[in-house]
Amino acid sequence: MYQFARKALFHLDPEKAHHLALKSIRYSDKLALSQRVIDSLACPLTVMGLEFSNPVGLAAGLDKDAECIDGMAALGFGFIEVGTVTPRPQPGNPKPRMFRLPEHGALINRMGFNNKGVDHLVRQVKQSRYTGVLGINVGKNFDTPVDKAVYDYLTCMRKVYPYAGYIVINISSPNTPGLRELQHGKYLDELLNALKAEQAVLEAKHGKRVPLVFKVAPDLDDDEIEEMAQQFLKAGIDGLITTNTCASRQGVEGDKHAKEAGGLSGAPIFDKSTQVQEKFYQYLGESIPLIGVGGINSGQRGLERLEKGAKLLQVYTGFIYEGPGLVQDVVGAIKAKA
Ligand SMILES: Cc1cc2nc3c(=O)[nH]c(=O)nc-3n(C[C@H](O)[C@H](O)[C@H](O)COP(=O)(O)O)c2cc1C
Repeated sequence: MYQFARKALFHLDPEKAHHLALKSIRYSDKLALSQRVIDSLACPLTVMGLEFSNPVGLAAGLDKDAECIDGMAALGFGFIEVGTVTPRPQPGNPKPRMFRLPEHGALINRMGFNNKGVDHLVRQVKQSRYTGVLGINVGKNFDTPVDKAVYDYLTCMRKVYPYAGYIVINISSPNTPGLRELQHGKYLDELLNALKAEQAVLEAKHGKRVPLVFKVAPDLDDDEIEEMAQQFLKAGIDGLITTNTCASRQGVEGDKHAKEAGGLSGAPIFDKSTQVQEKFYQYLGESIPLIGVGGINSGQRGLERLEKGAKLLQVYTGFIYEGPGLVQDVVGAIKAKA
C-alpha cells in the first residue's frame, strides 16, 4: 500500500510531501498498524536504563515539533525522537531546502533547524498519549554564536527534562553555521562539563535521571573519533548517536541534485556511517551504548549495524522510501536472528 502512497507523494515537492505525510499520520488512524501487528513487533530490551518495546526508532528531524508522536507510535516504532528544537522558534533556511535522489534512495537537506521553539514542543509532548521512550533532540538557534551555544542547550535541557525519556545534544547538523565545531577540543569539553553538571542538578530537582546522549557526524577521521571518544568516556555520557547526515557526495556523483548544499542521507551513506559507528565502538566498547542511524533501509542493514556495536537503531530516509514496512522488516530480521 505504501508504494501507492509513495508514488503520489513523490509527485509533490519533497517538503510539501513531508507535511502532507505528517498530517496524514497525525489524523488518520487508518494508517496505524493493527494491534496484532504492533504486538508482533514486540522485541523488548533495556538500554540506558530505559525499556524499549523494540530496537527500531524514528530518527530526529521528521517530527521536529513533536506534533505526530501518537501517529508515529501507531506505526510500530520502538521509540521516537522529536526535534531538533531550539530555544526560540526559527524559520530555517530559504526553500527549496530538501531534495530527493530517488535513484540512490537518498535525500539532501539543508533545512537549518526550522522549528516552532522549545515551548511549543513541550506543549505538544504534554498533549501526547504516548507512553514509550521519547527522545528529545535539542540544538542552538541559528544566530547564537558558537561560544554561547552552551546556554541554548542548557535552556532547552531545563525545559524538556521533565518530559524526556532521553535528551539528545545535537552537535552534528551540517546546516547551522559553526555547529560541528562543538564536536571538538575545548568546545566539546566545555559543553560536556556544563551539560553533565546540569543533568545532576536536574536529576536532584525532578527525582529522575534522564540519559544524556550526543549525536555526531559521519565526517570524522580516525584521530578525531579517538579524541572525541576519550572526551565522551571522561565525561560519562549515557549514549551516542552515530550518525547525522553526510557532507560528502560519495555514491551520488552526477545526480542532478548532487551539488545542492546540505547533508546527504539514505542508502549512500550507510558504509561511511557504519565505519564511524564501528570506530567509536572500538574505543567505547560497552561503556557507552551506540544508537546506529544512517542508510538503514532493510532488515539486513539493520542487523549489520547491530553486529557492529549498535544497541538501538533509527531510520529516517529509509522510512521515506520504504514506508512503515521498514520497521517490520528490521524488527522481523532481528527476531529471526535471535
Ligand atoms: C530532511 C531531514 C531533516 C533532518 N533533521 C534533523 C534534525 O533536525 N536533527 C537531527 O539530529 N537530525 C536530523 N536529520 C538527520 C537524521 O536524523 C539522520 O541522522 C540522518 O538522516 C541519517 O539517517 P538516514 O540515512 O536513515 O536518513 C535530518 C535528516 C533529514 C533527511
